[in-house]
Amino acid sequence: MHQNLQMNSFSQLDLFGGPQFPPDREKATTQRQERRSGTFTDNMRLPIHRWFRYSAGFSAEWVEQAIKDFPSARPPVVLDPFAGSGTTLLAAEKAGAVVYGYESHPFVSRIAAAKLLWHLDEQRVLHAAMSLLGRAKASKPRVPEQLPDLLAKCFTPATIERLLALRDCYIEIRQETDEWRLVWLAITAILRSCSHVGTAQWQYVLPNKRKAAFLDPFHAFEAKISEMISDMDFAKRIGFHQTATMFSHDAREPAPIAEHSIDLVLTSPPYPNNYDYADATRLEMTFWGEIASWGDLQLTIRRFIIRSCSQHTAAERLHLEDLLEDVTLAPIQAELTEVCNQLATIRMTKGGKKTYHTMVAAYFVDMAKILMQLRVACKPGARLCFVVGDSAPYGIYVPADLWLGRLAVATGFDSFSFEKVRDRNVKWKNRKHRVPLHEGRLWIKG
Ligand SMILES: C[S@@+](CC[C@H](N)C(=O)[O-])C[C@H]1O[C@@H](n2cnc3c(N)ncnc32)[C@H](O)[C@@H]1O
Repeated sequence: MHQNLQMNSFSQLDLFGGPQFPPDREKATTQRQERRSGTFTDNMRLPIHRWFRYSAGFSAEWVEQAIKDFPSARPPVVLDPFAGSGTTLLAAEKAGAVVYGYESHPFVSRIAAAKLLWHLDEQRVLHAAMSLLGRAKASKPRVPEQLPDLLAKCFTPATIERLLALRDCYIEIRQETDEWRLVWLAITAILRSCSHVGTAQWQYVLPNKRKAAFLDPFHAFEAKISEMISDMDFAKRIGFHQTATMFSHDAREPAPIAEHSIDLVLTSPPYPNNYDYADATRLEMTFWGEIASWGDLQLTIRRFIIRSCSQHTAAERLHLEDLLEDVTLAPIQAELTEVCNQLATIRMTKGGKKTYHTMVAAYFVDMAKILMQLRVACKPGARLCFVVGDSAPYGIYVPADLWLGRLAVATGFDSFSFEKVRDRNVKWKNRKHRVPLHEGRLWIKG
């Protein structure tokens, strides 16, 4: 049975409210502000942010407050090198700050770029969307015999028929205009709410989990377009500024922006905790025919993103010794080598023999490269905030915030401090270890 779902309900990685700036500039915030800026779920209630759900890492309201709190007369120039679906960019546009974002996951960067089109003419978007819907409704159902397994598992025959009608009509009539980029986003954004299986939670699809209610594609599309139109109108009325530039760019590579131009970096990088960002949009990319199977993720996405999951390092067949020799790791080399060697030993006693040993080493090699690029992009005296968490693969503790802080100082930043936001031990609980973990804000200055 189809019925209207609360499309915004969404549990997420979480909780980044609390004090806004590093201790030297901490401001008292009211209880109400704390509550309102506290969780990622907040983003799914916010205009534009709610267009596509993704693991944001922090709330837009926190970003906006951090920009407002920046100690200068003018709004700071902001950078998010892991821009994802664009939380920092949209929050900065609301705050009137010039902002740049990099995202190297090609599909996710397209989503963020589409969200930044809030300034388009609503009537033109509506016209494109309604002409598509009319055509899809009138089209003859055509479900291919060879439907990808994932789509067959995720959608009932009636649902996939309508979704494919939207997709195929889109492919037939779309034009290379910005309006049609928003129509693409609307189709992409409704897929999970139209599925009768467990697709709702970040990040994996659970075909055996049934949902009590799911949406009809034509209704969902219409509702999504109407939400988008109303948010576009809202953004214009409250005075969003067109100040964001989004680059489909790998943050490890030389920056596409001017040297020494950034005042403030606000970002949430992948943690070294085995989350597979490539898998996050597998359903959507399969639907659009961009990948045929899980195996395609390595070539289409993982090679562009930092190595923070063992699937990635297993596919690259990395050698630990080569990674540990990287000179950029010098400030943490001894401790990192010890941790990685322990992981290399432990894996031989485990059935899965996961490549956490190379994952952890490769993660810090990649992050060291990014910190070097950030040093070049940032002005002297800049401030950077990384929302990060530590991890404990196979129960071996990896102090991510501490090691990233040391790498940052080695690249030429002055100092770092860590502001814990919460304790956690969720991700690894099924690995039967009890290592206490935390998440929080790594502040870097200089
Ligand atoms: C925690 S998410 C950030 C989410 C973001 N705050 C948002 O609003 O959606 C981390 C992001 O970093 C991206 N990423 C990973 N490696 C990258 C790289 N080398 N360059 C740029 N982005 C990268 C991932 O694809 C992922 O979207």
